[in-house]
Amino acid sequence: MIQHLTLRDNERQFICLVDLQDYTNETSQSLFQTILVVAADRNNIWRVTVNKGDSATLPCTFSPPDQYPSNITVLWMKENPWKESVVFNQTRSLRDGSDSVTVNKGDRYQLIGDPTQGDASIRMRDLGLNDTSKYFCHVHVKNGGREYVTQDEMRLQVVAPATILELSVVTDNIIGDSIVCKVEGEPPANITWIDPENSALPGNSTTVTQLLEKHQTVGEILNPTLRGNYSCVAVNEHGRDVRQIHFPAADNDYSNFIIAMLCLIPLAKFLLLLITGIILFIKIKD
Ligand SMILES: *[C@@H]1O[C@H](CO)[C@@H](O)[C@H](O)[C@H]1NC(C)=O
Ligand SMILES: *[C@@H]1O[C@H](CO)[C@@H](O)[C@H](O)[C@H]1NC(C)=O
Ligand SMILES: *[C@@H]1O[C@H](CO)[C@@H](O)[C@H](O)[C@H]1NC(C)=O
Repeated sequence: MIQHLTLRDNERQFICLVDLQDYTNETSQSLFQTILVVAADRNNIWRVTVNKGDSATLPCTFSPPDQYPSNITVLWMKENPWKESVVFNQTRSLRDGSDSVTVNKGDRYQLIGDPTQGDASIRMRDLGLNDTSKYFCHVHVKNGGREYVTQDEMRLQVVAPATILELSVVTDNIIGDSIVCKVEGEPPANITWIDPENSALPGNSTTVTQLLEKHQTVGEILNPTLRGNYSCVAVNEHGRDVRQIHFPAADNDYSNFIIAMLCLIPLAKFLLLLITGIILFIKIKD
């Protein structure tokens, strides 16, 4: 592996020689001579920004082979340009025009460029937030005893509008009730609250936690003082989402107590009548 390539490495030619220690004077030489083509400066990295769930085209161009090559392999790698990170590998044999795809992670990639025209662009579908990364395109063109290798690099950024995933009242016997709003968004969403009197809650009465690796923000009001509807408002530069919740929630302990009392009253009345009836019955019998 050669790291930190610059444009000065462009068109450099490599042969790999291996000396065998146990057999002096014996040297193995690579079958292919490799010519390195460096496509662009690091400062010139191509960036694509797309919405979660959409498709994106990752562009990759190289000087088209001038002689008729035997085959062209297009490799795409994620995060680092090592073999282990290959997400796509397709070889086009130009003798019979057949294609063989040996790697296609999650079946989400498709070669859309024509490699014989110097285009190895791919299309990637169903983008998720964890697809944000650097991508490397390697093109290997085999031509007689030579193999031309081109590397290009680009950055894909997947964004998502602020979306409320969950809004709920959490009851805790020790720290008290709280209203919790869990939001997804990239860049991370801001959360603000509107109280039942329609005024924005000041920042010091709420807490905000960022779960950056999950692209989530969690906002919380601890021990809300008013009863009624609270709104969670989530915003980032790609969208806004609002949801309302009633506090206290219908199923918390306090309302359970009221419901229990309302059920107990008719039961008490019934027992009172029953006892009175029994007493009257005994008296009449006497
Ligand atoms: C890509 O696939 C070809 C076969 O088509 C294989 O020879 C080559 O080793 C593969 N490369 C990587 C990095 O997986
Ligand atoms: C990326 O996230 C999706 C769900 O959104 C998951 O199915 C997939 O396994 C994740 N991939 C990686 C590499 O973490
Ligand atoms: C989120 O809040 C920060 C700081 O409070 C602010 O700089 C930023 O502009 C806000 N973003 C949006 C989309 O409102």
